[in-house]
Amino acid sequence: MMNLKSFTLLALSACCWLASQAQPHAARNEFLLDKGWKFTKGDVPGAQAQSYDDASWQRVVIPHDWAIYGPFDRSHDLQEVAITQNLETKASVKTGRTGGLPYVGIGWYRKSFSVDDFEKGKRRVTLLFDGAMSEARVYVNGKEAAFWPLGYNSFHCDVTDFLNADGKNNVLAVRLENKPQSSRWYPGAGLYRNVHLIVTDEIHVPVWGTYITTPHVSDEYAAVRLETTVDNLANENVRVQTEIVNAANEVVAQKNEMRKLMKGQAFVQNFTVNNPSLWSPETPVLYKAVSKIYVKDQLVDEYTTRFGIRSVQVIANKGFFLNGKLRKFQGVCNHHDLGPLGAAVNVAALKRQLTLLKEMGCDAIRTAHNMPAPELVALCDEMGFMMMIEPFDEWDRAKCDNGYHRFFNEWAEKDMVNMLRNYRNNASVVMWSIGNEVPTQCSADGYRVASFLQEICHREDPTRPVTCGMDQVTCVLGNGFAALLDVPGFNYRVHRYEEAYGKLPQGVVLGSETSSTVSSRGVYKFPVEKKADALYDDHQSSSYDMEYCSWSNLPDDDLAMAEDHDWTMGQFVWTGFDYLGEPSPYDTDAWPNHSSMFGIIDLASIPKDRFYLYKSIWNKKESTLHVLPHWNWEGREGQTTPVFVYTNCPTAELFVNGKSYGKQTKSKESLQHRYRLMWMNVVYEPGEVKVVAYDATGKVADEKVVRTAGKPHHMELVVDRKELTADGKDLAYVTVRVVDKDGNLCPHDNRMIRFSVKGNGSYRASANGDPTCLDVFHLPQMHAFGGQLTALVQSAETPGEIVFQATAKGLKTARLVLTSTQP
Ligand code: GAL
Repeated sequence: MMNLKSFTLLALSACCWLASQAQPHAARNEFLLDKGWKFTKGDVPGAQAQSYDDASWQRVVIPHDWAIYGPFDRSHDLQEVAITQNLETKASVKTGRTGGLPYVGIGWYRKSFSVDDFEKGKRRVTLLFDGAMSEARVYVNGKEAAFWPLGYNSFHCDVTDFLNADGKNNVLAVRLENKPQSSRWYPGAGLYRNVHLIVTDEIHVPVWGTYITTPHVSDEYAAVRLETTVDNLANENVRVQTEIVNAANEVVAQKNEMRKLMKGQAFVQNFTVNNPSLWSPETPVLYKAVSKIYVKDQLVDEYTTRFGIRSVQVIANKGFFLNGKLRKFQGVCNHHDLGPLGAAVNVAALKRQLTLLKEMGCDAIRTAHNMPAPELVALCDEMGFMMMIEPFDEWDRAKCDNGYHRFFNEWAEKDMVNMLRNYRNNASVVMWSIGNEVPTQCSADGYRVASFLQEICHREDPTRPVTCGMDQVTCVLGNGFAALLDVPGFNYRVHRYEEAYGKLPQGVVLGSETSSTVSSRGVYKFPVEKKADALYDDHQSSSYDMEYCSWSNLPDDDLAMAEDHDWTMGQFVWTGFDYLGEPSPYDTDAWPNHSSMFGIIDLASIPKDRFYLYKSIWNKKESTLHVLPHWNWEGREGQTTPVFVYTNCPTAELFVNGKSYGKQTKSKESLQHRYRLMWMNVVYEPGEVKVVAYDATGKVADEKVVRTAGKPHHMELVVDRKELTADGKDLAYVTVRVVDKDGNLCPHDNRMIRFSVKGNGSYRASANGDPTCLDVFHLPQMHAFGGQLTALVQSAETPGEIVFQATAKGLKTARLVLTSTQP
């Protein structure tokens, strides 16, 4: 199989990449415009002019998020609103809704670029933006080349006619504007995704110009159909020579055909691949179609389309089938931000997220509620995650005063088309969603809007089913909205799935968004009770995993629903990772609180206890035995302190300082007893909690001990990878743990920790997962939270040694040596 790195490179431009990238005068050249940008915050009339002097502007490298540097402040995007989708009817003051970060405002970027092999009339030059936040106005040499309002979508523009005649010293300027009250979460700000410059011949395959499908899939053989669009052909013959290449770089099928295309017609080729390796989350095997386009025997373009061979089906009363095999989504919803990096996309950070989710047994991602970065989709192809891609949180009716509804009527189709063409070749994408909890679902003709959007999906990609995340169950069951979708997707309201299944024609129900349980890593509240909207003075939620929001529920409800009914297609949990903004249940004037508490994994990429609950059910390959809470309850001596265990074993026995509290076995006595082992009457005494797990035959399967930690003594550094790539972008995630002399985590330690990075790397950011902490991420210091935090170290472009050091008052300094090697 081709190595992962080269697959990632291939995918940087949404599946399309050319072998001849670096050579001038190749049929096609593609460059990343990442360096040499200038940036300024605020509006600057005339900044698009070629002659404008930007000397005083800040030098930046993109992807760049101007707002992530903070500071956090209660006044940023302070709102007085009723959040209707949270069932609020009266307006109240909302803080931290968008993370308390200064994302609102205008920002300008400028960069000069040259196209060496430019020849007017012979070469075409295209700019491709993977996303620009938001209301992007793109200027080349002072002339407006594009406007694209939705900040999450990819868009492209042909700038050939705006270039200087010799192709040299062109000025690209981009103006971005984020309006207040334009988002329900932290959207990020600026050129937070990549910008590509694509140089082609006059006759060429346009951006996203191929469409590849696998109309027949079996273990014996697969049919592969490739449509290639060729722009600017005069009424002439075109020859397309395509090789289908497997993961071992062997040509497994090929065609070399000449045809004349009518205007607007695509060049269609059909292939048979024998004994194909089918793509699935467990076997993410990829193929490429490498096409050479000839006109009059001249090579005019070369285009590579990466794809996977797999089939997708939804069968009434049975559910979702991948390659003919029934499976249920073990999915999570994620927003796009990468915690301390903000919205600025980074491949290593995305890979870190997916690695953790894979360990949990997660096999699917919903990109809530917007188009993802192409790098995420490429990684899902490579690492094996099914994706449900979703474009909108609003249609024509508002959730936010300045939300997407302002653009919907004019832009919805254009946005859908770009999303669909961008990602319809990706093996990981198995379903489209057309929206999330849109208020339009309850309007009398809302079904027409849904139908309009679903039809666009069917037209552009008839191979994937379409869903919509619906929360107003009564409306959508009554008004035809839910009935018209390929797959009815419900957000929460798990108690109404059965009714929906009975009333709707599809014979399946998808948990498009589930759970919304809230917890803060390492924080436990007493007494341990199941509660909606529990509020505490410290603005945290309990990690006993018994707290949720008024509209939501505990994980156990959704896990049982998926297990008990064939017709449920599984779920997408809200959320895999904590994200910036939406600090429910502390969003009503409860500053400080800047991030969500819904995540299974916190903002510092450290798993919360809930991670192990899902892992114990979803990850069938590894055993799980996880004990909570920590055992440092100074002051609670003699008081009831329940102990929970998340394990794939049916039974376990609990001992505290050698005294048995008896065996517990999973049972159907309640939903919680079905998935958790709970000893509710444990009396706290410092010392040792030991859990012995037994398998179904009664044999000891595993054992786990949690000890009361002594005085903080030193810091333990746990790094995800010791070897980085020297590309100036790669990241190591270093988790710093404050421990006692024996290595036990000190779970109450919140001291300040400072970092230094020397050698061929730099400090990038850090996070501690505490939603109430206002330390900014980019300064090399952060308070620990529950004894832990994570610092991100970035490689330089020169390979060599990178030395990371953490210092803190009262603790021995900790040091870690990483290395980086040539890309
Ligand atoms: C849903 C919504 C999500 C998020 C979530 C929090 O209603 O779709 O975007 O707000 O609630 O529980």
